[in-house]
Amino acid sequence: MTRKILVTSALPYANGSIHLGHLVEHIQTDIFVRFQRLMGNQCYYMCADDAHGTAIMLSAEKSKQKPEDYIYNIRKEHIQDFKAFNISHDHYYSTHSEENRILSEEIYLKAKQSGAITTKEIKQYYCEQTNLFLSDRFIKGRCPKCHEEDQYGDACEKCFHTYDATELKEPYSVYSGKKPVIKNSIHYFFKLSNFKDIINNWLQEGHVTDPVKNKLQEWLDVGLKDWDISRDAPYFGFRIPEETNKYFYVWLDAPIGYISTTKNWCDTTKKESFERIWKSKEYEIHHFIGKDILYFHTLFWPALLHVGGYQLPQKVNVHGFLTVNNEKMSKSRGTFILAKSYLKKLNPEFLRYYYASKLTSAIDDLDFSTKDFTNKINSDVLGKVINICSRLSAIIHKYGEGNISTIPSGAKNMLESIRSHRKKIENFYETLEFSKAMKEIMICADIANQFIDSEAPWSVAKSDTKYAIEICTAGINACRYIMIYLKPVLPNIVEGVEALLNNAPYKWNDLDTTIETQSIKTYHHLASRITLEEVEHIINM
Ligand code: MSP
Ligand code: ZN
Repeated sequence: MTRKILVTSALPYANGSIHLGHLVEHIQTDIFVRFQRLMGNQCYYMCADDAHGTAIMLSAEKSKQKPEDYIYNIRKEHIQDFKAFNISHDHYYSTHSEENRILSEEIYLKAKQSGAITTKEIKQYYCEQTNLFLSDRFIKGRCPKCHEEDQYGDACEKCFHTYDATELKEPYSVYSGKKPVIKNSIHYFFKLSNFKDIINNWLQEGHVTDPVKNKLQEWLDVGLKDWDISRDAPYFGFRIPEETNKYFYVWLDAPIGYISTTKNWCDTTKKESFERIWKSKEYEIHHFIGKDILYFHTLFWPALLHVGGYQLPQKVNVHGFLTVNNEKMSKSRGTFILAKSYLKKLNPEFLRYYYASKLTSAIDDLDFSTKDFTNKINSDVLGKVINICSRLSAIIHKYGEGNISTIPSGAKNMLESIRSHRKKIENFYETLEFSKAMKEIMICADIANQFIDSEAPWSVAKSDTKYAIEICTAGINACRYIMIYLKPVLPNIVEGVEALLNNAPYKWNDLDTTIETQSIKTYHHLASRITLEEVEHIINM
């Protein structure tokens, strides 16, 4: 039975370029998506730029552009960067869209009708230097619980405690660095506690991994606070209906962007009805997010979906943060690597493989280590995988006029043993244990290389060309299996191999078949070895 799946990555802010951290998420998501398609499942991948909020408003101002123009240009750049890394979004839209405005208002009004919206006068920090109310992410200070410095106004990244901005110790404005004053303002609130049972039931149904579930359980046990969903002008976003100078907080309309992106895509391509995707159980919704935005996606989001009449996600997959040579990515240390800098020096497929070899279903951080990266790419991708293709195709052209023949009976065990890893690999892709999948695949590559080395077709060819070509035929079939296994990770390289072997685009089911007595093309360079210097170059760009 084919599954129908809608997959999303978190919507990058339309404020600054795509960096290697964003790519952890998009590569993880894309591998999952490509795996599903390879299996023959219906899988659509939606993403967009998250275009609203004070930060974007200020960046636009700083660059002397209208926010609309600013976000337009950034989105174009984001699309280009993702494309270069072969991220196969079916649609990449923007939250600053008509569809998103309409859906956000609709969901808000339904929440209001259900009695889940209230207003309260709040005291809020205000930066007198810049005349702005300071939303949670624009005020920093010490965590009221663990006293860690430089924590945002909503939650502590060290101890995960959540609090109100006014509870921060030694607060300062991120805009001016100065101590802010307190002003009063009427704000709209979403009564999250009305949805406690909905959230709790959803949580018990296995849509997140156990460690994530435990974290959420803690939040639920502490009690759900009302969520402040309004911001005062000036703000770049959607106006709250039936109000004048109040705007939706960016985090209200941002996740609704998942739905409005789907809607825009459905309306344009006519491939599917968006209600069927978001309102019927025919589709599974899978979100991919980083651990910093867990609260939004597992508490607020299920509540908003529920009140809006949409289905709740089947999976919320959470990954950790990227560090570079074991340090936090930082502009001042030069470890803040942009997608564009990477692309100037290195093959995008290599980053895909490297991340795959490190990613698990856990929320642990992962490190981009320049040494480890260089070694892994040279030894696995070049040495173990591509090498099989280039060596064998050379012999096939030298001694067999470019034709493979039949698989010798002595090679059947070798091929069976590579095929026997199929179920495990399948399962590791499905459960996001990519590092384990890559280990299995490298075991398969070792099996193939050992076979080729011990049969040594290049020396057999001197006395028995026919048998040498049979050995190569077996080797090519081993290589083909490995390429099918790797196709979600290395789409470009595998496309090159499909062309080399005159094969149609591989499907997972092609693991059931072999290729024999056919021609293959001459080997064209698929990728080159890298040096540590080249890799270190991208750090200091
Ligand atoms: N706009 C919000 C998401 C809205 S979703 C409805 C946002 N944007 S972001 O650009 O800051 O981050 C986008 C995604 O990239 C998030 O899932 C975030 O966790 C992830 N990452 C950003 N920096 C990262 C690392 N250094 N490492 C791994 N992932 C990181 O949050
Ligand atoms: Zn803390």
